[in-house]
Amino acid sequence: MKGRSPFSLLQKSVPAAAALLLFFLLLTVSPPSNSSYHSLFLSLSSNDTAAQHLQALTRRPHVAGTDANSVVAAYILSILSAASIPARIVPYHVLLSYPLHRSLSLLPNVSAPVVSFDLSQEIYPGDPFAEVAAEVLPTFHAYARSGTATGRVVYTNYGRVEDFAKLRAMGVEVAGNVVLARSGLVYRGDIVRNAQIAGAVAAILYVDAKDNGGRTGKWFPEARWLPPSGVEVGSVYRGAGDPTTPGWASVSECERVSVDEVVASGVMPAIPSLPVSPRDGEAILGTIGGQVAPEDWQGGTGAPVYHLGPGPGLLNLTYLGNETVMMIQNLIAVIEGKEEPDRYVLVGNHYDAWTFGAVDPNSGTAAFLEVAQRFAKMQKEGWKPRRTIILCSWDAEEHHLIGSTEWVEDNREMLASRAVAYLNMDYAVSGRGFHASSTPQLDELLKEAAKMVQDPDNSSQTLYESWASTDSPLIRRLGGGGSDYAAFVQHVGVPSVDMRFARDYPVYHSMYDDFLWMQKFGDPLFHRHVAAANILGLVALKLADEEFLPFDYISYANELQKSTKVLENELLGKPVSFAPLQESIEKFRRAASKVDSQRKELESKDLLSKWKKDPLKVRELNDRLMMTERAFTNREGLFGRPWFKHLVYGPSNHNVYLSRAFPSIDDAIEGVEVSKGLGSWKLVQREAWRVARVITQASRVLNGELT
Ligand SMILES: *[C@@H]1O[C@H](CO)[C@@H](O)[C@H](O)[C@H]1NC(C)=O
Ligand SMILES: *[C@@H]1O[C@H](CO)[C@@H](O)[C@H](O)[C@H]1NC(C)=O
Ligand SMILES: *[C@@H]1O[C@H](CO)[C@@H](O)[C@H](O)[C@H]1NC(C)=O
Ligand SMILES: *[C@@H]1O[C@H](CO)[C@@H](O)[C@H](O)[C@H]1NC(C)=O
Ligand SMILES: *[C@@H]1O[C@H](CO)[C@@H](O)[C@H](O)[C@H]1NC(C)=O
Repeated sequence: MKGRSPFSLLQKSVPAAAALLLFFLLLTVSPPSNSSYHSLFLSLSSNDTAAQHLQALTRRPHVAGTDANSVVAAYILSILSAASIPARIVPYHVLLSYPLHRSLSLLPNVSAPVVSFDLSQEIYPGDPFAEVAAEVLPTFHAYARSGTATGRVVYTNYGRVEDFAKLRAMGVEVAGNVVLARSGLVYRGDIVRNAQIAGAVAAILYVDAKDNGGRTGKWFPEARWLPPSGVEVGSVYRGAGDPTTPGWASVSECERVSVDEVVASGVMPAIPSLPVSPRDGEAILGTIGGQVAPEDWQGGTGAPVYHLGPGPGLLNLTYLGNETVMMIQNLIAVIEGKEEPDRYVLVGNHYDAWTFGAVDPNSGTAAFLEVAQRFAKMQKEGWKPRRTIILCSWDAEEHHLIGSTEWVEDNREMLASRAVAYLNMDYAVSGRGFHASSTPQLDELLKEAAKMVQDPDNSSQTLYESWASTDSPLIRRLGGGGSDYAAFVQHVGVPSVDMRFARDYPVYHSMYDDFLWMQKFGDPLFHRHVAAANILGLVALKLADEEFLPFDYISYANELQKSTKVLENELLGKPVSFAPLQESIEKFRRAASKVDSQRKELESKDLLSKWKKDPLKVRELNDRLMMTERAFTNREGLFGRPWFKHLVYGPSNHNVYLSRAFPSIDDAIEGVEVSKGLGSWKLVQREAWRVARVITQASRVLNGELT
């Protein structure tokens, strides 16, 4: 931060008009510095426009590939074009998935009549969206296998690998039966995958009362909880981007692999599955006998006792899906940089939604549009960013990160040579409490920015202070596949950030994720939307405008060290040495301090004599900072998952949502645990060497020295 301008005192307390006036006055005295523009950015915030955007974006359900979603795209384009930041449409032709037919019936036991579930989410009295409720897609799992399956029901807790292992240990038969799992702890595609591996013929997922406010008997619209008929829709695909174009862009006449090949590769399920409501899930649970389920598998206070089965309850399920190549539209808007137009700071949010998307993702879209409009106002006052800012509005994220992945694959080498950072905001708000994830060189920048933003829930403190008191401030890592940062970080190695207020929320991916829910429970005054726009925009501005990239690689070295310690403790007494890894991290740490002092030296030259600083030297140093993250990627990628190139951060093989440090070492350790053969420790050692080598490469890039 370069000194405090009068604007930071104003922030939201003075209307934007007055701030602009003052800005003009200052303009006449001396040309404004970037930091005064950044203060202007904060002073222009408006909760009313954020609310208007959200309302406009969420009038109808808008799933990728539908006309309603094109209407949303047109709205975004119109706002950007009115702000004089015209966006272009970048289309891709990708395999999307829609439901055609579903049926589910339950035979509780031989002496009871068959129960047929109607699988519909109910409209409540006074529902403001009743008229368009019929446009909500029937509840389904995108890319589930079409087919019919019949079998006795087995209860599998959260459907994790360890849950299936426990069932095996307890002698409960899963093969040939239908799995019932509660959702919430791991990616739903991994639950279905685990069921398939265990030999199940189908999987049913539901939200358990334990994870939905308990049994208070209150739900939306009275309370924030999912109603008894509410269903969490979602994708069960575990790959990256369009399933038929693994690793390349889905332009219209491109090479495609067949769906059968995709299924055979294990990233698309080979068994049918369906999500059901809490009410239907409980009805099914009630027909499961056999052993009593373990204590931590139970449903909490007031719940009936859960059993494991299998049966006697018998489920009969039919699912028919339509997997079809559809056009999707990414929207790309460019604010060209003045001094370094060929260096890109990317800001992204997706706009497609499973239903109305008031939380997911359009709270983020509202914040994103707020940021764009404020950037436009700053441009009118003479601001031009040093580097180019690219605003990306992604399509088909919900089908599994498809729009962003195709674009990254389409532009991979350009991004690899020019992208400074990618800032993601999926949903921006579902409640209070700030949460952030990043690649570690951006940790300090995030904290600095949070110190300049007001806490939306307590005007007498900063966002940083509230973050520190509720979340420590804990910064999570971006190895998981939860949103559009995945291709940037894990495929190309672009330093990235992901931010939001609150994390899980009960109406997630259901018909009740609408504007009313947001108004009543998510963000009644839209102040959190404003804070989300503030932090997103401010981080982008610092990355775009500061002469030296605000990257801190010492904090990266610390994170690498920490993750190595965790592994070492886990593998105590095993024949694996982490010395090569330790050594490479020490090299990296030395490179990080060296680049830090080189920057300080250049900066001090600036102070002594403004005219003697060599801009090429600044550029050269910045390029090293930019390219270091790239060096953590490796051409071969993770073993068996070659699209994932990053050897420091990647998704767990058993939970797409979970970020793992050193994922290839993780996979190799699992190989040993499964095969129980000592020989495989060699593979673990080999992966440790491989990781050590990319870290060594990264320290060379940071040093800018050949051997
Ligand atoms: C059969 O199922 C019905 C409905 O769930 C239940 O009321 C009845 O007790 C069950 N009968 C047996 C023999 O378990
Ligand atoms: C399962 O349902 C399908 C379609 O509703 C029906 O055709 C089939 O006979 C049922 N199977 C059993 C075993 O009940
Ligand atoms: C699948 O969806 C596409 C696009 O909406 C549609 O044109 C096609 O008719 C659908 N197929 C079936 C079998 O309904
Ligand atoms: C608001 O923040 C101030 C300063 O950190 C703190 O003293 C106060 O307790 C907070 N108020 C609430 C309601 O959290
Ligand atoms: C914006 O904030 C003001 C002040 O807190 C509040 O009165 C107003 O209702 C908010 N606007 C919306 C749309 O919530």
